[in-house]
Order: sequence, then structure tokens, then C-alpha cells
Amino acid sequence: PLPLWLDCDPGHDDAYALLLAAHDPNVNLLGVTTVHGNSPLEQTSYNTRSILEALDKRDIKVYPGAPKPILREALHAVDIHGESGLDGVTLLPQPLEPAIPGADFLEVMYTALMGAPPNTAWLVSTGTLTNIALLFQKYPDLAHHIKGLSIMGGAVGGGFTNAPMGRVKGEGERFGNWTAFAEFNIYCDPEASHFVLTHPVLNPKTTLVTLDLTHQVLGTQVVRHTLLYGSDKPLDFASADTKHTPSPLRALFTQIMSYFAGTYAEVFDITEGPPLHDPLAVAAAVYYDMFDDKGGERFKVDIVTDGTHSIDQTVVGQLGRTVVSKLPPGQPGCRIPRGIDLARFWELVESCLRRADEV
Ligand code: BDR
Ligand code: CA
Repeated sequence: PLPLWLDCDPGHDDAYALLLAAHDPNVNLLGVTTVHGNSPLEQTSYNTRSILEALDKRDIKVYPGAPKPILREALHAVDIHGESGLDGVTLLPQPLEPAIPGADFLEVMYTALMGAPPNTAWLVSTGTLTNIALLFQKYPDLAHHIKGLSIMGGAVGGGFTNAPMGRVKGEGERFGNWTAFAEFNIYCDPEASHFVLTHPVLNPKTTLVTLDLTHQVLGTQVVRHTLLYGSDKPLDFASADTKHTPSPLRALFTQIMSYFAGTYAEVFDITEGPPLHDPLAVAAAVYYDMFDDKGGERFKVDIVTDGTHSIDQTVVGQLGRTVVSKLPPGQPGCRIPRGIDLARFWELVESCLRRADEV
């Protein structure tokens, strides 16, 4: 199995990233760090612990990371995930194991990743990039050691894919989800994002899962129905076995997705189902052949860092925007998949739920 470290900020969709990381048989989850983001660090750490409790993975250690961005104040996605970061989720258990406070989380990550043979370990980021930037700033040799870095973040726009990107009342169509141009994880800490995504050693090892991809992966009614009841055929409503009462875990993950569906319908007018961003970064690390990158496209990535955070997001302009340029064939660069085999992805989620239910 692939040695993998997950850095996250649960977060409704982060919960699905944890499900995959913890229960895919092809992953050896080395540990989890949390970061400020969807809600404050204390809350994302608590949420991570209770999700792992629900997944029966109490043994996996959780280390709280950075409480705020490198240069800026923390921002939280209250309108999407609620104050707690996991609003609307009543079925989560109380964590029995606390997150491990006060540990040198960077040293712990470094030791775990360096403990894997060279060129094997993956680092997956589903939150803001503060911890990841601090890690490679403190330990530059780690960039040479790891096999890959898979990040959920950014939005390319400009017809990069045909995904429905949503609209905000009074603002019309847009491709960013925090500002018209910027995706939340990148916008929260643009300096950290810039450091990571323009890093010359990391860039060719990076897979960037942007909104252009994640908005193709919607938790529709059919998806929720089949995941709730379990099914042999993904995306096939009729094959879901409704004879049995759903397991507590399936009920929990359906509740998570349903809340997310509600806020996406309300805030972005996406009514088909919420884009399930974060587990795609885990899937891209383990099963890249599930994705379509047009035969191996590679990109140079830049992040706009001038500008200040503002409550009135209309004045912040391009801050946090992901600017990509396609490289000539054969040149090393970042992978930004444009498409995905949806049936395979949902089957992966289904198989992880099945496995989690078996333990
Ligand atoms: C990203 O922002 C967060 O709200 C989600 O958890 C995801 O990581 C999507 O822009
Ligand atoms: Ca997240």
C-alpha cells in the first residue's frame, strides 16, 4: 500500500477524504495533520478525531498544525460548512482519543514521510496550504524524497472543463468559490500556496485537483441513495438494496453529504448535488489512471499574492487566483486532470464504506 499523509480541515468533503485514506486497502495512512480553514484549528482537529472514531480508526494519530496563515488572519467557510465546520451532522460520535496537542507537527510529518522508502510516499492536502508550505520550508530535502503531492485547490476557469461552476446571487457566473477568481483553500493562505505551487522540485511531483474537476463530481440524489443503501452498480438507483436498514456509518456519510448539498444549493445555486472536492485529491494520489489529463498535459502554476483580504470581496481583485500555463510536451510540470471516470470514483467510495462497515 501507498504510504500517505493527509493534511485536512474537516469539513464535510474532508470527511470523505478521511474515509478513503483510512479504508482504501491500497493506502497505508501514516497520520493526519489538521489546519485552520473551514473552521478554526481546534474545531477541525476535533472533527477529524470524531470522523476517525466513526471510521473505527482510533489508532490513527491526529496532530493539530498551523492555527493561521503564514502572513494573514484566518478565514473560515461558515456559509458552506457552518460554524463548527461540520454543521448539520448529528450522527458523529464523541472522539475517545484526543488530538495530540503541542507536538512538533512538522517534525512528526517529516519523520513519518522520510521513514518511507525514497520516492514512494504521498502527501495529500485538502485544506489551506499553510502546513505544507511550513513543512517544505523547514525540511527542503523532503521535496526530493517524496513521490508526490496531491492538492485539492485552485480554479482555472476559462473553459478548462465544462463543469457547472455555480453562481452567487447578484454576481452571476463565476469560477472561483471564494471570490469570483479564487478557490477557498488557495485564497486562505495565498503566500503558502504560492510557495508550494511554484516550488521547482515539488511542481513536477504535484497533482492539482481544481474546482474545474471537482464540480464534475456531484453528490446527486442517485449517488446519495446508492451510498446510503449500498449497491453493486455505482450510479444505478435501482440496484441499491433498500431491503436493509442503512448502517450507522452510511447514515452518517449521507447526512454529511446532505448538509453539503443544502449549502451548495443555497450559496451557489448548484441544485443537482454538492461537488465532492476533497476525496478526489486522495483518489488522484492512489488511482491516477481514473483521471483524464489529455494524455499527460503538464502545467506551470502561479498564484496571485498581491492584494489584501477584505470582508467586501469585490475589492480584492485577483488575490488567490490560480494562473496556469501549459508546458510543451515532455517538459516536467504539475498535473491538473480535466476529467474523471465517475463510475469508478463512486465505486471507490462505495468500496471504502463497505470495508469500513466490515471492521
Ligand atoms: C475546498 O474548500 C473547503 O471548503 C472544502 O473542504 C474544500 O477543501 C473547496 O474549495
Ligand atoms: Ca477541505
